[in-house]
Amino acid sequence: MRLDFYLSHVTELARKAAKIAASKGRVTVNGDVIKKANYTVKEGDVICLDDMPLAWPSEGYYLMHKPAGYVCANQDSDHPVVLDLLPSHLGQSLNIVGRLDKDTTGLLLLTTDGQWLHRITSPRNACGKRYRMTLVSPISDDNLKQLEEGVLLNGESSLTLPAVAERICENEIYLTIQEGKYHQVKRMLAAVGNKVELLHRDQIGLLTLDADLQAGEFRQLTETEVAYF
Ligand code: URA
Repeated sequence: MRLDFYLSHVTELARKAAKIAASKGRVTVNGDVIKKANYTVKEGDVICLDDMPLAWPSEGYYLMHKPAGYVCANQDSDHPVVLDLLPSHLGQSLNIVGRLDKDTTGLLLLTTDGQWLHRITSPRNACGKRYRMTLVSPISDDNLKQLEEGVLLNGESSLTLPAVAERICENEIYLTIQEGKYHQVKRMLAAVGNKVELLHRDQIGLLTLDADLQAGEFRQLTETEVAYF
């Protein structure tokens, strides 16, 4: 594995910052200063940053800006999957936290930690997920109120849980929901006679998608962010 990738995985340094740290002589491998970011580190190497030994974390926690066109699955015969956007050794060990539709963009979490995943996805923990959407038709204040109070989804027997709906303009809204039923947001909007044209998730609990993380990019969560859930 490349040294800069290793550093960006085990520290809070992004890939570019990791390259700079190495070029400044802050990194040693088995006691030798290594300035080249493309140096290959092997299992068993002792890698230090500023003389502090680093260890590969036992659990991995990542945030991705999911692009449109990618499926949230381990594999798919017809479409690329989000795990294709990660280095293969990472993709193989990570589980996707909840699902976004192929055409939905935005905040997606991935982890090796099953309990953490469960805390985010379990309806009992009422973890809010905020979606920004563009609708085919303008939406009325009455419809926003209905979305907040609960609507009956096609094929369900009980109303959706209370949600928060905020208007951005006549056909754009934010909707924060606590559940994660199949196509929930699209079905909620269908239940009030509208249709979602574009759907983007920008927040899960206290965690918001970084404005400078481009679609297809990912980063490791900080310890503080992991502790949100
Ligand atoms: N609700 C949907 O309808 N689609 C998504 O991708 C996420 C939530």
